[in-house]
Order: sequence, then C-alpha cells, then structure tokens
Amino acid sequence: MKVLIFQTEDEAKLRAAQIILSRVQSVPNSVLGLATGGTMEAIYAHLIEGSSNHSVSWSETVTFNLDEYWGIPADSAASYRTYMNEHLFKHIDVAMKSTHVPASSGDDPSDAAQSYEDAILTAGGIDLQLLGIGKNGHIGFNEPTSSLSSRTWIKTLTQETRDSNRRFFERLEDVPKYALTVGIGTILASEECIIVGTGVDKAAAIKAMIEGPVSAACPASALQMHRNVTVLIDNDAAQNLDPMEYYQHVHPEGRETELSNV
Ligand code: GLP
Repeated sequence: MKVLIFQTEDEAKLRAAQIILSRVQSVPNSVLGLATGGTMEAIYAHLIEGSSNHSVSWSETVTFNLDEYWGIPADSAASYRTYMNEHLFKHIDVAMKSTHVPASSGDDPSDAAQSYEDAILTAGGIDLQLLGIGKNGHIGFNEPTSSLSSRTWIKTLTQETRDSNRRFFERLEDVPKYALTVGIGTILASEECIIVGTGVDKAAAIKAMIEGPVSAACPASALQMHRNVTVLIDNDAAQNLDPMEYYQHVHPEGRETELSNV
C-alpha cells in the first residue's frame, strides 16, 4: 500500500480529487467506482471545482457507486442516488445514463445484486475505485465478517453503522437495516483503489487496514492483497500507525517523491 499522510483532512481529500481528475482527463472513458458518506462531500466539491477550472469533461466517463440502502425509494432524500446527484452528477457533464447506483428496492435483492455485478463486468470492470472507510473497517457496506471474495450482494447493516449514518435520516428507525453493496472481491478486481479516511474516529480502522492481519474482522484489510492501493489519511487518522517514521520518510507529508530522489 502507498500510505500518504497529510497535515490536514482537506489536503488528503484534495489529493483524492486530483487523482480522479487526472484520470478522467487522461482517459476520458474511464470506468470509475464512486463512494458516498461525509468524507466524500469535500472530495466531490473539489472535483466539481477542478472540472470547471481545468475544463475537464466527464461526457465519456462511466461510474458505478459502491452501495445503496435497500428498502427506500431511489429518489428519497437519504438515498445514495440522491446523494450522488446532489453532490456530484448534476454539477458536471457526466451522462446520467452512464451513472450507476445499485437498486434500492425490488422483488429480489439477489437478482438486483447479480445484475449490478454483471453491469460492471460488461463495462469492462472498474479502472479506479474510490473508497471511504467505516469506523469498524467496512468498505462499501461490507461489514466485518463479510467474505473477502464476495461479489455484489445484500448485507445486513450493523447497529454501529446505522448509528453513524443516523445523521442523514430524520429518525433512527428510518435508517434502513439492509444495503446492496459491491462485494470485497469486486473491489479487489478493480485496477486501482484510493481510500480516504480522516479524523481520530477512523484511526483504529486505518491501523487495522494497513498493519493488521488480513481478516474479515476488518474488511478494509483485504486491500493489502490488492497491488495498486493508495491510502490518503490525515495526521489524526494516522495516529496509531507504528512505523510512522518510515511512512514519513517514504512520502514526507504525503508527497510522492520520484524514485531517483528516495
Ligand atoms: C457509509 C458508506 C461507506 C463509507 C462510510 C464512511 O457507510 N457505505 O462507503 O465509507 O459510510 O462514511 P463517512 O465518510 O461519513 O465517515
């Protein structure tokens, strides 16, 4: 894993946006995997600003979101489809038909999961996957104990995750109990991943992801098995890391030095 530790959370989020923007600029028909949550809001704001400042067009870009609550209307205020429309899609020139978010309702969640997985494969797989991380180490909505080779599926949310996401709903009882999420195996099949975690609340999960054993107890630790992962974190989220001098030596303050300068 490439571990980049920044002084502030905004520097980490800005770098994430720069990586995505430079991908869209150099390969306009990229297939991007996108995420939701509080962390992503600033990243998307930077993406919108950067796309406008540098005239980057998303007209050929295809997106697949990681997850969606199951059991709410897709157009409800708290759905991830609404989140994506509001925080990103309606501010850039992406073709709405090229944006994909898992279904939020239907007769059979397993069928919906399979068609989403099939759509990703038909698009040629994910080129660049953006990820956040839950306090318990979840990625997408793959909660602890999820199979590390899972493909898109329906998952039961933990109470901790429902509590964390309570702020996006009027009442706790409105927070769905289930979600459709791309699997950990689906994420591992992407060409490149970037994962962003900031704040002291994420420090334990970040430690387990980077330095812990590969274990279903921390789904994000499966990323240790991926060959091209960049971790973007701030000092607060990095506070439990052990060989801190090493991370700072390789990438001082998150800088990516040329090999010849190392
Ligand atoms: C939700 C999403 C995850 C995201 C996590 C972190 O649970 N399903 O994909 O990583 O939230 O959210 P936040 O950035 O708000 O801490």
